[in-house]
Amino acid sequence: MAMSSTPPTQSGDIPILTALLAKSLLKGKHLLSIQQLGPPELDQLFAVAREMRAAITQKRVIKILEGKVLGEIFYEPSTRTSTSFDAAMKRVGGQTVILNESYSSTKKGESLEDTIRTVGQYVDAIVLRHPNENAVDDAAAVSPVPIINAGNAAKEHPTQALLDLFTITEELGTVEGLTITFVGDLKYGRTVHSLCELLKHYRVTVNLCSPPSLDMPSELTQQIRDRGQLGVMSAELPAQVVSESDVIYCTRVQKERFTDMELYEKVKDSLTVNPSVMKHAKSKMILMHPLPRNREITPEVDQDPRAVYFKQVSPQVKNVV
Ligand code: NCD
Repeated sequence: MAMSSTPPTQSGDIPILTALLAKSLLKGKHLLSIQQLGPPELDQLFAVAREMRAAITQKRVIKILEGKVLGEIFYEPSTRTSTSFDAAMKRVGGQTVILNESYSSTKKGESLEDTIRTVGQYVDAIVLRHPNENAVDDAAAVSPVPIINAGNAAKEHPTQALLDLFTITEELGTVEGLTITFVGDLKYGRTVHSLCELLKHYRVTVNLCSPPSLDMPSELTQQIRDRGQLGVMSAELPAQVVSESDVIYCTRVQKERFTDMELYEKVKDSLTVNPSVMKHAKSKMILMHPLPRNREITPEVDQDPRAVYFKQVSPQVKNVV
């Protein structure tokens, strides 16, 4: 009797993906800041993401990066970013090498540059998260392979911002004309900084709701204002703002960035989204959070179909069977 089995997957099995990757605008480049990406890169990345999502949903593993190795160096804690890079690399047929700071020669006084020079000999690209905002640039200056910024202090988190923009597009069909409300720690929330920068490519209204000591850095607020995108700025999350928002994007108060713990205690639970807040929200809107969540969104809200923070981490999102 003939055996029925799934044939081995090859990059040739997915010609659209292979063709898109051959034209990649980012091939061989570092990804250090979201400022590097404009509409052509975004369109291309999202087209690749849609094709990869469809292929992985169908085949579980594809082999487009067979033979490639990704280095993952995280000098700050991470759940989603580190495991999603790791899983993604394996799903596309590649392999990973993980360097955990507590076992690395950093503990023996090795410089970041020397670590990058060394790991760069073994891998084809390096994903780096670091508590110093200049670290990704310092790493890129000496790296023999592309560096991908997975978070540099409170400054940027380009890959989370890409996922966030992709999620908004997929869930709401467009970014154009939307009202997007950022809530919580807008001072230190690096995902917010990168997403706001990406939003400059669209016609949007941006509301900023944060306790006064956690306001968005003034130069970023000024840029949003100069673009004519600034809506409401508030120390609270008023019902009116909730009712007008197409996206509410909450953030954790970033305890690790505070020098004054008394201040942290004072502000840590100041803005919370719970079912009574969600009662004011439109039926077609989304509630986002880059995770990890503390108390800024109460667990009862997780069941609300408008809450997409767990859904967005899955490669099998909307419209895919
Ligand atoms: C965020 C981060 O590390 O900046 N999470 C993430 O990577 N998805 C948000 C946070 O730490 O609060």
